[in-house]
Amino acid sequence: MKSVSLDKIFRRSKPVRLVCGRGLPPLSRLAPGICGAADKICLVTDRRCFRALKRGFDGMLGGLAGRTVVFETPSAGNAKNFKTLERLLAFMLENGLSRRSLVIAAGGGSVTDLAGLAAALYMRGVDWISVPTTLLGQADAGIGGKTAVDLRGVKNIAGVFHQPALTVCDTSFLDTLGGKELRAAAGELIKYALIAPGTPGRIISKSLPGALNGEKKDLSAVVSACAAFKFELVSKDEREETGLRELLNLGHTAGHAFEALSRTRLSHGEAVLWGLRYAAALSYKLKILDRKYARVIETALCLTEPHALPPACLDFDRFSGFVRRDKKSGGRANRFILIVRPGALKAVNDIPAGILKQCLKELE
Ligand SMILES: NC(=O)c1ccc[n+]([C@@H]2O[C@H](COP(=O)([O-])OP(=O)(O)OC[C@H]3O[C@@H](n4cnc5c(N)ncnc54)[C@H](O)[C@@H]3O)[C@@H](O)[C@H]2O)c1
Repeated sequence: MKSVSLDKIFRRSKPVRLVCGRGLPPLSRLAPGICGAADKICLVTDRRCFRALKRGFDGMLGGLAGRTVVFETPSAGNAKNFKTLERLLAFMLENGLSRRSLVIAAGGGSVTDLAGLAAALYMRGVDWISVPTTLLGQADAGIGGKTAVDLRGVKNIAGVFHQPALTVCDTSFLDTLGGKELRAAAGELIKYALIAPGTPGRIISKSLPGALNGEKKDLSAVVSACAAFKFELVSKDEREETGLRELLNLGHTAGHAFEALSRTRLSHGEAVLWGLRYAAALSYKLKILDRKYARVIETALCLTEPHALPPACLDFDRFSGFVRRDKKSGGRANRFILIVRPGALKAVNDIPAGILKQCLKELE
């Protein structure tokens, strides 16, 4: 037989939709095609969230309840691992889900990351709907199709890109969050205020203090602006190939290291807040960011006071190990997204260890 060689580029071409608002209609009205075609539905949530939002979820499911089975993860913070992923996939199998079935992920970022990955793996991929219920989830984690679990303490190291067919950010689901949980989103929200240029960036900066205090109008403004900005950006660089999506990594190189080294004592949002502080310190030290903007950024970062960095986070050898292994470093010694001014960022590689160490010391 003659040998054959073919080169093609394949892309998933199904439409993807984002809907943000307060008191939104049931999913069967927002996505009649997907919901109508699903033979079975698996609602994935976590215990605490399910209790808090039982009535809201009943309204969201509307006429779909008869076809729906519910998988509850015991605790959101510990859900992103292979053990829970395996349990979820086994649950889907035991409940007879097929290739025509639908996964609905309703919860914080831990739930949408885990359930999105299960949807990508089950029978080589079924449709899923993302319904983030935390401020961090609605502004960031629940949007964009990045799914993953953690492995051996390294965040999000095993995952795939699998776009949800629909993402629904209903801000009425945020009413059951306490002040501490709202403030956990501060890091990601400040990140958007720094990366979104022009009007979206201004809306986020203006509404940020009110949103962190639970003001409904500000929450709606912040969620819509962040979610729309991320959705737009992801649509232009779905698989982090052009560099555009990399902007979303601001504060995350150090942030993920802090989160892992703190052994969950810092929430993701708190770790990102410290990661942004670190990125701002590096930007200033490398003379990329001038003093005027450094002050503006420091004022924003002081809007909430995260837990202090645990001593393990300040151990430079362990910190730099995580920075080196960061997925985005691409085999280089390190790669950081740094701030030129709000709305303008720059990727910098191979920053000398001495500078990284000095900036870590400054966080003490
Ligand atoms: N995929 C992405 O693009 C992306 C981006 C950023 C973060 N993440 C991931 O997101 C995760 C953090 O997500 P998170 O901050 O949303 O936290 P989380 O999912 O851990 O949830 C935090 C807590 O809030 C509770 N909860 C959720 N919704 C509630 C509600 N409406 N009322 C009352 N309680 C509620 C949960 O039960 C949980 O106890 C991290 O694992 C991070 O890696 C993913």
